[in-house]
Amino acid sequence: MVQVEYKNVTKTYEDGFEAVKELNLDIKDGEFLVLLGPSGCGKSTTLRMLAGLEEVTDGDILIDGLKVNHLPSGARGLGMVFQSYALYPHMTISDNLSFGLRMSKGEEKLSTEEINKRVIEAAEMLDLSDHLDKKPKELSGGQRQRVALGRALVRQPKVLLMDEPLSNLDAELRHQMRNEIRRLHDELGTTTIYVTHDQIEAMTLADRVAILDKGILQQHTSPLDAYNNPANEFVRTFLCRHIDDLVETANNLFNDTK
Ligand SMILES: Nc1ncnc2c1ncn2[C@@H]1O[C@H](COP(=O)(O)OP(=O)(O)OP(=O)(O)O)[C@@H](O)[C@H]1O
Ligand SMILES: [Mg+2]
Repeated sequence: MVQVEYKNVTKTYEDGFEAVKELNLDIKDGEFLVLLGPSGCGKSTTLRMLAGLEEVTDGDILIDGLKVNHLPSGARGLGMVFQSYALYPHMTISDNLSFGLRMSKGEEKLSTEEINKRVIEAAEMLDLSDHLDKKPKELSGGQRQRVALGRALVRQPKVLLMDEPLSNLDAELRHQMRNEIRRLHDELGTTTIYVTHDQIEAMTLADRVAILDKGILQQHTSPLDAYNNPANEFVRTFLCRHIDDLVETANNLFNDTK
């Protein structure tokens, strides 16, 4: 089942700049899709249109077969995690995790019991159980980023959107969190769209990768297939040569230390 579809989606900003051009892309139920490309290629714009934070200029975006172009962001059933995770500094971790749920109104409103249950579950999943009564400033960067992830997960979103969520962390933590994110995905099976400009991150996380350049989709396939069969010169340089260079550097280091 296809869960998210971009059909001929174009985004033209007010100044006339075309950031995304006639994008056709499908994300299957339970899939982990990575949007990959250099800075300015339109990754965030693509994600933000799905999130309802940017208007679609042309074309349609569908979630579960339903056109959402004009649906308010909050009604789309999405969870979002961004690079700057802006936790509420004066609230405890527990309150940060539950805030969105407590603010829900109408049909969305959950009982206090259900909210508490979800917070406890998320905290266990993300190894935050011992920190629930603390304030954000008492946590490390990695722990704070896990709170941001937990805040999205407690909503039990249909689709989880992440825009460079790890770029504020150091290399070691980024590696650790990357594994966490993939493990969580395998456990929960939530359809996920993850934005990064980091080729290795894309290769290690994605079921399929959508590679963008200058607002145009270049290739949409498994990471290994993109590496083995790059669709064009751009993918060959941006993905394959970059990875080959990394491997060569690692080999040289290894040989030097032998
Ligand atoms: N509000 C805006 N008005 C005009 N142009 C914009 C606006 N927002 C983004 N752009 C332009 O659209 C293009 C795509 O931006 P976008 O933020 O989607 O890139 P990105 O791939 O996420 O880059 P990065 O990796 O640096 O985050 C860029 O050239 C950017 O300058
Ligand atoms: Mg971006």
